[in-house]
Amino acid sequence: TLPIKDNIKEKRKRAMLGGGQHRIDAQHKRGKLTARERINLLLDKGSFIEYDMFVEQRCTDFGMDSDENKFAGDSVVTGHGFIFGRPAYIFSQDFTVFGGSLSSAHAQKICKVMDQAMLVGAPVIGLNDSGGARIQEGVESLAGYADIFQRNVMSSGVVPQISMIMGPCAGGAVYSPALTDFTFMVKNTSYLFITGRDVVKSVTNEDVTAEELGGAKTHTTLSGVAHGAFEDDVDALMRLREFYNFLPLSNQDQAPVMATEDSKDRLCPALDTLIPMESTKAYDMLDVIHSLADNRSFWEIMPDYAKNIVVGFARMNGRTVGFVGNQPKFASGCLDINASVKGARFVRFCDCFNIPLVTLVDVPGFLPGTAQEHGGIIRHGAKLLYAYAEATVPKITVITRKAYGGAYDVMSSKHLRGDVNYAWPTAEVAVMGAKGAVQIIFRGKENQAAHEAEYIEKFANPYPAAIRGYVDDIIEPQITRVRLCRDLELLQGKKLSNPAKKHANIPL
Ligand code: COA
Repeated sequence: TLPIKDNIKEKRKRAMLGGGQHRIDAQHKRGKLTARERINLLLDKGSFIEYDMFVEQRCTDFGMDSDENKFAGDSVVTGHGFIFGRPAYIFSQDFTVFGGSLSSAHAQKICKVMDQAMLVGAPVIGLNDSGGARIQEGVESLAGYADIFQRNVMSSGVVPQISMIMGPCAGGAVYSPALTDFTFMVKNTSYLFITGRDVVKSVTNEDVTAEELGGAKTHTTLSGVAHGAFEDDVDALMRLREFYNFLPLSNQDQAPVMATEDSKDRLCPALDTLIPMESTKAYDMLDVIHSLADNRSFWEIMPDYAKNIVVGFARMNGRTVGFVGNQPKFASGCLDINASVKGARFVRFCDCFNIPLVTLVDVPGFLPGTAQEHGGIIRHGAKLLYAYAEATVPKITVITRKAYGGAYDVMSSKHLRGDVNYAWPTAEVAVMGAKGAVQIIFRGKENQAAHEAEYIEKFANPYPAAIRGYVDDIIEPQITRVRLCRDLELLQGKKLSNPAKKHANIPL
């Protein structure tokens, strides 16, 4: 036996190798980095402090208590470090040790960093790469998942939680990422599913590849489970560093302020001519956001899902804001089920974490049809309404063009405690478009065209809202950035809270 000092050294050396060089090579061959390489890329150089490197799995069945089945640290690397100088707790599952599967020791290590993160008020980042529950441990492993889930829920709204899926994530394992605020994926090498393709085949007789079932494309375009996808491990981790800078450390904290050369007094003349003359013609709401944001920089969340609404983070005068905008380029910017849920989740994140909301409105209403009604648009649309009504962070709204019907109310209207509500001269605030309105109130009457013209004259402009004080001002588009920056500065002092309650009951 080695003297204890050398033994410690030896154990550390072994821990650094995880499941051994041949498994590291296999990991690299798959185009994936190891758990430790990932941590080193994500965190500032040399800042990682590791916990529990000497923890081992304690299973005694199936020969698991033999020496060759003991790996220092087991199948996850945990600890904390800095990202651009700001602390983060981290766990990174090590696929080279039993396929990154979750033993009770593995779960215990994750729970420890989650608990510490809550105590000090710092985010938790999970890098997931795991074959699921450690099969040899049975229910102990399931218990471990539940211990993590409980902490995910208790941490929700207290510290930001981010999941980066960098390998398989199947079965019960998927619910921890699902409970976190953001789930990102790596293209071609990561999967999220409740049951694998073999089980799918035997139960539903469907033939499906893992990629189709739960790859990055599926979850960022179809299911809405993931919030973004990246090219490879390096791209994912570099982008995650950037993303982290938008977020506060906890709900007691403000997002970091970034010095910017982009003047808060910058005019945006291009916005004066952006809205097409014909009100049915599309334009790109991203152009508006890029013009308004510091350095035209926008970190879009779910860019490929429910494209009729745009959500994401930008900075104005150096401070993080959450932008929500209807997107006229897709489905005329209508609100549908997926857009409502996407918007609601984002609004609630911003509200949890003191991030002001800027809402850009061009919405012709909710999407009509049986698919939407039968799918529960009433229930799902209510989520976005609820999220805006509940939010107490600064809320600024700019109606760029249409604000029709119930969707006008939903999109951060004055009536939902909007702090500042602007309209551009092109704004139309009305119950519906002229054609539909005239067909109803002048049904069967002659002179439809004249009635339409009258309706447009009366309602297709911002005045009906402005004379009632439902918009605070009609502004030239080019001064929008200047006004928003000023408002945001003033609204930093905003104090508003909702009535005391156990928790609210958002329609689900
Ligand atoms: N429990 C224990 N060990 C596991 C494991 C698990 N859940 N998942 C994988 N492993 C082990 C494998 O036995 C293998 O060990 P070895 O290196 O000593 O041979 C190693 O991890 C790598 O797994 P392997 O199957 O060779 O990798 P792969 O890339 O071909 O496949 C998975 C990866 C995740 C698709 C596959 O391992 C799998 O289906 N695992 C089971 C998933 C599951 O159903 N989990 C329970 C649901 S909660």
